[in-house]
Amino acid sequence: MMIVGIKEAVQILRQGGLVAFPTETVYGLGADASNPTALLKIFKAKGRPVDHPLIVHVADLSQLSVWVRDVSEDAKKLMQAFWPGPLTLVFKKAPQVNDLITGGQDTIGLRIPHHPFALELLKAYGGGLAAPSANRFGRISPTTAAAVIEELGDNIEGVIDGGPCEVGLESTIVDVSGEHPVLLRPGMITVKQLERVLGKSILSSKKDSPRVSGSLASHYSPMTPTRLISADKLSEFLKTSDKKPIALLGSNLCYMPGQTELTCSVDLTPIPMPNDAIQYAHDLYQTLRDVDKQGFKEIVIVSVPEGIEWDAIRDRLQRAAMSS
Ligand code: TXA
Ligand code: MG
Repeated sequence: MMIVGIKEAVQILRQGGLVAFPTETVYGLGADASNPTALLKIFKAKGRPVDHPLIVHVADLSQLSVWVRDVSEDAKKLMQAFWPGPLTLVFKKAPQVNDLITGGQDTIGLRIPHHPFALELLKAYGGGLAAPSANRFGRISPTTAAAVIEELGDNIEGVIDGGPCEVGLESTIVDVSGEHPVLLRPGMITVKQLERVLGKSILSSKKDSPRVSGSLASHYSPMTPTRLISADKLSEFLKTSDKKPIALLGSNLCYMPGQTELTCSVDLTPIPMPNDAIQYAHDLYQTLRDVDKQGFKEIVIVSVPEGIEWDAIRDRLQRAAMSS
């Protein structure tokens, strides 16, 4: 595994190899979306079950008909408003699309990312690149090239280093294959933004479909046992907890109830998080990754505010905390 440039990356991909590349959300593990042998390598490298569908990334709309059929008016509005960008749309698939992409379903997830290196790579490559997040299955998505190397090391041929990802959380996923658009995974493009563009409400996927791997209970998880706690329960929790070293992640830590206990009675290391949702999302995975290496017995995360702009963060925190 090595850091590669766009040209080398294209060569590796043409030969059916795996190259991780930066997108604005998280790093993706790329493979030729029309090469089944290459696609199988993705599942192997990630340790991901083969019935979990992959998102296909393309450079522009000229590729659309290669992968999808039946593009609804709603889909057009969303593409127009948010592509290139951190939105994945799930369409009915074109007939020839491989089952390894779709997980054997009749639908396909597609996205035009806006990271300049991702676009450059996709343009140079010409075709579609399947790219799940470049982490081991169930683990925290990588937001730097170093994190990709940590996750996948020699299981892949190369990584394009684009620095830290701007958004820091995975794309919003909207299913536009049916009558009415359905939110499958919250992301930093919020429900409010989607509804403003659609001019109508969007349904939320209630069923926890295992086909959307991010919707499995345990996901995005640190190795260290992780707990989520509401701000008003914090002081109570700290009184009952023993002397084990704990990392406490949260915004506004010094203004919270239980401030006194925070500084004296428990072996606690406060890890301040940003107050702003966009900045919080940007920092979250890298912070978890760093904290995970520091030998804490537990990571305690103070739950985030109710607002819609926090939806994606709340979702990831809940899944991170379900692991242990
Ligand atoms: O931001 C992102 O979306 C990143 C970057 C690399 O683009 N990719 C990403 O891929 O998060 P992945 O595979 O880690 O998560 C994609 C999710 C999975 O949970 C998958 O099951 C779901 O999208 N998905 C893909 N195709 C689908 C489909 N046809 N129907 C329903 N869910 C689908
Ligand atoms: Mg993932």
